[in-house]
Amino acid sequence: MGRKVVLATCVLNQWAMDFTGNLERIRQSIKQAKEKGARFRVGPELEITGYGCSDHFLESDTTLHSWQVLAALLKDPICEDIVCDLGMPVMHKDVVYNCRVTFLNKKILLVRPKMAMCDDGNYRETRWFMAWAKERIVEDHYLPRMITDITGQHTVPFGDGVLALKDTCIGSETCEELWMPGSPHIPQGLDGVEIFTNASGSYHELRKLRTAYTLVESASMKSGGVYMYANMRGCDGERVYYSGGGCIALNGEIVAMGNQFHLAEVDIRTYRNKIRSRSHAAARADVYPRIVVDFALSGPQDVSLPVCEPLEPQFLNPEEEISLGPACWLWDYLRRSGQSGFFLPLSGGIDSCSVAMIVHSMCRIVVSSIEAGDQQVLTDVRKIVADAAYTPTDPRELCSRILHTAYLGTVNSSEETKKRAEVIADSAGASHRSVLIDGAIEAILVIFTATSGFVRPKFRVNGGENRENLALQNIQARLRMVISYFFAQLILWAKGRPSGLLVLGTSNVDESLRGYFTKYDCSSADINPIGGISKTDLKRFLGYCGKAFNVPIIEGLLIAPPTAELEPLSNGLVTQTDEEDMGMTYAELSDFGRLRKIAGCGPYSMFCKLVHTWSDKYSPTEVAGKVKHFFRTYAINRHKMTTLTPAYHAERYSPDDNRFDHRQFLYNTKWTWQFDAIDQQLPELEKAYNKRPNKPELGCDVSRVEDTRSKV
Ligand SMILES: *[C@@H]1O[C@H](CO)[C@@H](O)[C@H](O)[C@H]1NC(C)=O
Ligand SMILES: *[C@@H]1O[C@H](CO)[C@@H](O)[C@H](O)[C@H]1NC(C)=O
Repeated sequence: MGRKVVLATCVLNQWAMDFTGNLERIRQSIKQAKEKGARFRVGPELEITGYGCSDHFLESDTTLHSWQVLAALLKDPICEDIVCDLGMPVMHKDVVYNCRVTFLNKKILLVRPKMAMCDDGNYRETRWFMAWAKERIVEDHYLPRMITDITGQHTVPFGDGVLALKDTCIGSETCEELWMPGSPHIPQGLDGVEIFTNASGSYHELRKLRTAYTLVESASMKSGGVYMYANMRGCDGERVYYSGGGCIALNGEIVAMGNQFHLAEVDIRTYRNKIRSRSHAAARADVYPRIVVDFALSGPQDVSLPVCEPLEPQFLNPEEEISLGPACWLWDYLRRSGQSGFFLPLSGGIDSCSVAMIVHSMCRIVVSSIEAGDQQVLTDVRKIVADAAYTPTDPRELCSRILHTAYLGTVNSSEETKKRAEVIADSAGASHRSVLIDGAIEAILVIFTATSGFVRPKFRVNGGENRENLALQNIQARLRMVISYFFAQLILWAKGRPSGLLVLGTSNVDESLRGYFTKYDCSSADINPIGGISKTDLKRFLGYCGKAFNVPIIEGLLIAPPTAELEPLSNGLVTQTDEEDMGMTYAELSDFGRLRKIAGCGPYSMFCKLVHTWSDKYSPTEVAGKVKHFFRTYAINRHKMTTLTPAYHAERYSPDDNRFDHRQFLYNTKWTWQFDAIDQQLPELEKAYNKRPNKPELGCDVSRVEDTRSKV
C-alpha cells in the first residue's frame, strides 16, 4: 500500500554567528515548507549557528545561543504540525557534538550526533566536535531548563536512533557519513528506514556537484526509499561558498533538485509521492533504537496532490560554475560588509578581465533575481547604492554604480592593453578611468637617489643588473596597490556618495603556487574572487563570457600571450611573457599544483610521476630540471602565501596558507636530499628513454631560466 507524503528539503543562506538572521531564515523555510503541504522539513548542517563558526564552536556562548534559537522555534506557532529536523551544536556529558535535533509540536523527539567527522580540505570538524562512536545506542540527554520550561521534558533521547512515525521510518546521516563506504543509510535501510535525510555543509569546488548527486542517487538506489539532501548556500563568512543544490532522490532517481547558485536566502524543494511500504528488517539486520512518534507524514489532504516525476539533473560546466559561484560569493560579501561596491585595477590581462566579468555576472544575477521578485535582493541593492528608490533593470547600468575600474599604466604600457581594458570595462558596464602612475614611481626614485647618493637603478634593457630590474618592476606593481586603496576610499567621496569600495584582488591559483607575483602588489586586496581558480579554467571562463555576455574583444585577449608588462617595451613590443618568465607553462603549473596538494607529492615522488606522464614531451633529465625548478621557486616564494588575500576556494589544489594548505614558509630552497634522490634515478631512466622508438626531439634547458620576480 502506498501513502502520499510531502517532504521539504531546504537550502539556506546562513551566516556564521548571525543568530538573529539565521533564526529568521529557518522560520521562513518552515513557513514555506508548510505552505507547500510538507509535514517533514530538513535543513542544512549546523544551520542555527552557520557552518563556518570555526573556533566559536569552542565557546559556550555558541551552544547557549543555539538553545535559545531552538527555544524560539519550539514556541513558534509556525512550527506546529510539522516534523522539523535542524542542525546545531549540542554539549552532551561535557563533549560537544555536531547534531541534528528533531522536534514536533513542542516536543524534542531525538538529538542525533554526527558519527563521522570531516577533516579534509577546508574542513576541521574534529577540532571542534567529537564523533559519536556508539552505534545504535541512545542515551538520555538532560535538557537545559529553558527548554524544559517549553517542552515539559527533562530528558530526550540522544544518540544513533531512528524515528518511527505512524506511517514511515526516518533515519539521518550527516554530510561526511554519506561519503563513507559504510554509510549509516545502509544498515538503516536494512532495518526498515524509508526516508533518509542528509544535512550538509558542503562547499563549492569546480565539478563537485555531480559527485554528490551520484552519491545521493546510489544511496537511494541501494537502500530503496527516499533520500533527502539539504545544504547550506552562500558565503557564511568564509573563503568558501556553500553551494546549495538541495535535492531529493527516490529509489535511485533524482525527483526534486534546487538551484546550485542563487541569491535567494531560502530555497525549498518539496517532494510528494507515494512511499511503498516495504517488508521491514532484512533477516539479520541490526536493530536501531526507534523513537516512536504519534504522527503521520501522510494525511487526508494527500489525495489531491500531484506527484513528482523523476527528472534528469542538469549539471553546470566549470565555466558556468565560475560565472555563478564567485559572483554569488561576492554578492554575499558585499552586502554583508556594508561597503558600496568594488574597486578593480584592470590591466587588460586575463586575470583582471575575469574578475570584471565575474562582477558583471553578479550584476546580471542581481537583476534577474529582482525581476523574479526577490525583495531581499532589492533591499540589499538599494542599501549598497544608497538610493532608496532604485530598481535596477540593466546589469551594465547596475555595474556602473558598483564596479569602479582603473587602468594604472605608465608611459611604457602598451596601447593594446590600455585599449583592451577600456573595452572590457565598457562591456561589463564598469565606471572606468585610465591613470598614469609615472609621477609616483619617479617620486620614489627621487627619494632613493637623493638619500643613497647612488646612481639611478636601470632596467635590464638599459643595462641594469637583475636586482635593479626587479626592484623597478616591483615598485611599479606595488604602487598600483597603494593607488588602488586610495581610489577605493575616495572615489565615492568625490561623487558625493557615502561609504567606500572593496578592493578586488586578481591573482590566480597557479601564480600563487609558483609565487609569480610581487608581494603587496595588486594581489593584495580585500578579497579575491579568482584566487582559487587556475589559469586554464579562467581562459575557458573568458571564452564562455565572450559568447554569453557578447564581448567579442575577449577573443583577442585569449590569443595574446599573458604578460605582466612591467619591463619597458622594445620597439613598441612586449619583451616579457609570463610563461617564459616563470620557466613553465600554465598547464604544467596545474600539474604541479595537483600533484603537490592533492597527491601530496614532494620533489622525488613528483619526479617519479611526471617522468611517465610527461614522457611524450620531455626526457627524464628535462623532467628533473622542471621539477627542481618548480620546487625551488615554490620554496623561495612560499612566504607570499602567508599574506595571500582571502580568495574564493574553487580548486582542490589551492595553496592558501591561512586555512587550506598548512605548510611551512621558510624552506631550505636547495632541497639537497630530495634533489639528490632524483639525480640518482636519472642515469637508468635516461638509458631507457633513449632506447625508446620515436623519441621526441624536445629541448628545454630550464636551468637557464631566471626567476625574475621572486623573493622581494
Ligand atoms: C551528504 O552529506 C555529505 C556531507 O557534506 C555531503 O558532502 C554530501 O554531499 C551529502 N550527500 C550528498 C551526496 O550529497
Ligand atoms: C620607461 O622606459 C624607459 C626606457 O627604457 C625607462 O628609462 C623608464 O624608466 C621606463 N619608465 C617606467 C615608469 O617604467
